[in-house]
Amino acid sequence: MAKVTAIANANIALVKYWGKRDKTLILPQNGSISMTCDGMITTTTVEFSDKYKEHTVIINDEEFQKDEKDIHGHLDRICQLAGIKQKARVVSESNFPVAAGLASSASGFAALTTAAAVAAGLKLSPKELSILTRQGSGSACRSIFGGFVEWYQGEMPDGLDSYAESIVDKDYWPDFRMITTIVQKGKKPVTSRAGMAQTVETCPYYKGWLKTITDDLKSIREGIKEKNFEKVAQAAEHNCLKMHALMITTKPAIIYWIPATMEIIQSVIRWREEGLECYFTIDAGPNVKVLCLKKDEKEINKRLQNLEGVTETIVCRPGDGAKVIDKHLF
Ligand code: PMV
Repeated sequence: MAKVTAIANANIALVKYWGKRDKTLILPQNGSISMTCDGMITTTTVEFSDKYKEHTVIINDEEFQKDEKDIHGHLDRICQLAGIKQKARVVSESNFPVAAGLASSASGFAALTTAAAVAAGLKLSPKELSILTRQGSGSACRSIFGGFVEWYQGEMPDGLDSYAESIVDKDYWPDFRMITTIVQKGKKPVTSRAGMAQTVETCPYYKGWLKTITDDLKSIREGIKEKNFEKVAQAAEHNCLKMHALMITTKPAIIYWIPATMEIIQSVIRWREEGLECYFTIDAGPNVKVLCLKKDEKEINKRLQNLEGVTETIVCRPGDGAKVIDKHLF
């Protein structure tokens, strides 16, 4: 069987997914919307062969040890669907820090599923590929598509109506920017999987969060189509703060922010008051992503780089969905 390599970009949510209604199929409690980030790339090569006795997964030069992100189980799922008995060798590389709330699992599982599905001989539509990817890691189902993407909550118990779809492709709004500031590279103290499960179980405000989602999705979906920056960015910032309010009021509390996170939040608010159009969003980690338009990108990026604690920034525009390429990693 042939070796197959795929690349996928990370995605950052504007309306966040936080909580599952089915942990096995990875079905969300709420719908979400993201931007696929050009240039935050995972490349993954997969080969199924009789010569391999077990699945082996190498991520950024290190052998992956089984953890709650069940990559081996995801490979078994793909083999079962394709009706093959061979084991896989997987080599994967990301060009940005993994497991620090930078959506590395999104690009990782999107690239892995795209490559493994083709290598296993499956012929899937983008929707089917998104459903399969979702079962590896929820937010990854959005990275199958480019531009701005919505992942539907769905209602069916089998999850066949919980998939992602493009709202508009990457060329629709090329001036939209997301600047990721890196303030910490290490692994996060609580994984999103464990954190969201704890939140659903113990946070007294969880039901209140769910009640606000339909409006957030509507504002952001409409704002994207209208290219209305303020409408999108304002709703995204508010949605992120609501998610972090849930995290903070989970038992035990999940606090991802460090002092540099707060420094960036307060700077963004101050710059905005001074007339510079910028907003922020933060995932399950301390690193802040700043939303702005192309016209302000250079100024905002310069200011962010000058802030205490910011070691690096990555500027992204809307990027492509996952795709197969010719250049293999082994
Ligand atoms: O799909 P996971 O398990 O990596 O969870 C993603 C959770 C957030 O990044 C906080 C929100 C989101 O929608 O991406």
